[in-house]
Amino acid sequence: MDSFAFIIHPISVKRDVQRKYPFLGRLLSERQIEFFSQYFPPVYISEIEGITSEATGKQVKGWLIACPFTPRQMLELPEQRVYRKIIQTGRMAERLGAGLLGLGAFTSVVGDAGVTIADELAVPVTTGDSYTVAVAVESIRQAAAVMDIPLKNATAAVVGATGAIGQVCAELLAEDVGCLLLIGRRAEALEELRARLASRATAELIVCTDMESLHEAQLILTVTSAIHTVIHPEHLQPGSVVCDVARPRDVSAMVAAVRDDILVIDGGMVDVPGPVNFHFNFGFPPGKAYACMAETMALTLEGRLEDYTLGKQISRQRVDEISAIAKKHGFRVSGFRSFEKEVTQEQIEAVRLNAKRPGRKHILGGSYGKT
Ligand SMILES: NC(=O)c1ccc[n+]([C@@H]2O[C@H](COP(=O)([O-])OP(=O)(O)OC[C@H]3O[C@@H](n4cnc5c(N)ncnc54)[C@H](OP(=O)(O)O)[C@@H]3O)[C@@H](O)[C@H]2O)c1
Repeated sequence: MDSFAFIIHPISVKRDVQRKYPFLGRLLSERQIEFFSQYFPPVYISEIEGITSEATGKQVKGWLIACPFTPRQMLELPEQRVYRKIIQTGRMAERLGAGLLGLGAFTSVVGDAGVTIADELAVPVTTGDSYTVAVAVESIRQAAAVMDIPLKNATAAVVGATGAIGQVCAELLAEDVGCLLLIGRRAEALEELRARLASRATAELIVCTDMESLHEAQLILTVTSAIHTVIHPEHLQPGSVVCDVARPRDVSAMVAAVRDDILVIDGGMVDVPGPVNFHFNFGFPPGKAYACMAETMALTLEGRLEDYTLGKQISRQRVDEISAIAKKHGFRVSGFRSFEKEVTQEQIEAVRLNAKRPGRKHILGGSYGKT
């Protein structure tokens, strides 16, 4: 049977450690976990079974394995040390006999996004970023439809537009919407992106380096590798939609708490075909996976056990191809969830009504404090 392995790592540090080690997760502080995890070996988590192609009936199996580093460690420890730990985790995949290795969350963000890791390993590697792009853009399109925001005239924003995932999301949205804000920290890199997208874009492209420009946007796709939240209640206009693809999240939980006129959706969640059982609770409802996991599964179902998405320049062709492969085997963009809870039709209606209530403009004037 074709098989894959997928590397996860603690993101919400205490909570995620508790999923595997309930006692240690409760006992240790986040700082203590970060200290000990430097010396912790890779961890075998579980076997995944039941993934079944809708098109061919083929079944594949997989394994979840964990690299013990947190997002902060992945960004702050010396790069070579982080690579070594991820490669060590990849060796576990090889010992298990996996035919393909997927890199979850920050294991795909660090350094050159999988290139060095793939060079060092015999097992082929994919970051899962191509399908993440496809799912993120599809989610924002679906959210625009339910919120009655016509794409053609909408102002959208991509936050983290210079990133691996952000760049291609921006490229796709630039052909959909009326105006697109490219938001990031480095003006020069954003200008380069604007120049590159300009020839095919139908949208007006505007470069911004401050979050205040989000006030202009009705549709926001956010995908930074920040380790703290970057989008706060006062940044957003009533009735807008934010699709948060980043893990850890970009959107402050305060947005859900104090803005009943905004729809925040968790980006990058997918329904897996077949009676999948992960034998591990990584925080999703049964039958659902991150898009990057789903890319690894879909390639395994397709028998494409090869280096697939690697590096910071994701090709549009790969995004289209993996979308078609995933669709064929029965992967689907999940219904809306917000901060891990299902979003009901009634909640969507309430957001739309609340956005129209008088006084909402006043809120925009900045009466919320930063979280
Ligand atoms: N949901 C899923 O299935 C899924 C799958 C894969 C990845 N992800 C998540 O997607 C995110 C991005 O991944 P990536 O591979 O595209 O990363 P990346 O290539 O490193 O890009 C990150 C982007 O974030 C920006 N950024 C970093 N720190 C920031 C801060 N403090 N404030 C504002 N912007 C900041 C960077 O801007 P500069 O250019 O200024 O550095 C860059 O544009 C990560 O959180 C990752 O975990 C999710």
